[in-house]
Amino acid sequence: MRKQIAAANWKMNLTFQEAEKLLDDILDAGIKLTDHQEVLFAVPYPYLLMTRSEVEEEPNYHGAAQNCYHKSAGSYTGEVSAEMLHSIGINYCIIGHSERREFFNETNSMLMDKVNLCLENHVIPVFCCGESLPVRDAGRQNDFVASQLSGSLFHLPADKIKMIMIAYEPIWAIGTGKTASSAQAQEMHHFLRSVLADQYGTAIADEIPILYGGSVKANNAKELFSCTDVDGGLVGGASLIAQDFIEIITALK
Ligand code: 13P
Repeated sequence: MRKQIAAANWKMNLTFQEAEKLLDDILDAGIKLTDHQEVLFAVPYPYLLMTRSEVEEEPNYHGAAQNCYHKSAGSYTGEVSAEMLHSIGINYCIIGHSERREFFNETNSMLMDKVNLCLENHVIPVFCCGESLPVRDAGRQNDFVASQLSGSLFHLPADKIKMIMIAYEPIWAIGTGKTASSAQAQEMHHFLRSVLADQYGTAIADEIPILYGGSVKANNAKELFSCTDVDGGLVGGASLIAQDFIEIITALK
C-alpha cells in the first residue's frame, strides 16, 4: 500500500512554548501508526530541533521544514540549506507552497533547484502544486498543475521521483474554509497520477503519495482521505488544534 501521510504545516504561528505544548498534546494521544502511515510536523526553523527530539521515540512521526533555499551554501544571509536540514536530522521539507510562490516569487525553475538540493541531501520534498480560483473558473486547472509538475519535477530520473511526495493544494481552498469536495479532490489526484504515469509509467505513479491540502478539518478528513488517490493531507489551521489534528491522523487509511 502507498504511504498515507498526515502533515501539519504550522506556517508562521505559535511561540516556542505553545509549539512544545501542542506537540506534547498530540503525541500524548499515543496514536500508533501502521507501517504505511506517517505524520509530519512542518514547523518554523527555530523549532526543528525540539520537534525532532520530541518525535525521536515515536515510529513514523517526523519533523519537517517549511522551506529551504535554492542554493547549496554561501553568502545568502537569513537562508537555510537542505544540507543544514539533513545535518540536524530533518529529512522532509515542503517545497513550493503557494504562499511561497505568491509572496516570495518562487518560480518553477527555483523549485526545481530546491527539489534537486533536497534529494542530493537525503531530504524528501513535499512538492506543492495547485491552481487559483480564476484558473479553475477558466477550466484550466489540469493544464496548470501539470505544468507545475513538469516545470519542477520531470527532469528527475525514475529512481529520484519515487522519493518525493506531492501535495495538491487548490489556492482557493487554503485558509478559506472552502474545501474541495471529495469528488473534486479525487478527480485532480487521479489526473496528477495519470500525468506521473505518462512520464514514468504506472508502477512508479502508483507509489507516489499525493496529499490533499486546503481546509482539511477533523470533520471532513475521513471523507477526503477515503478517496482512492488521496493519500492523506497537508493541514494548516486545523493542525494548530491538538484534538483536531489527532482526529485527522486517525482518519488516515
Ligand atoms: P489550511 O488547512 O489552513 O486551509 O491550509 C492549508 C495549507 O496551506 C497547508 O499547507
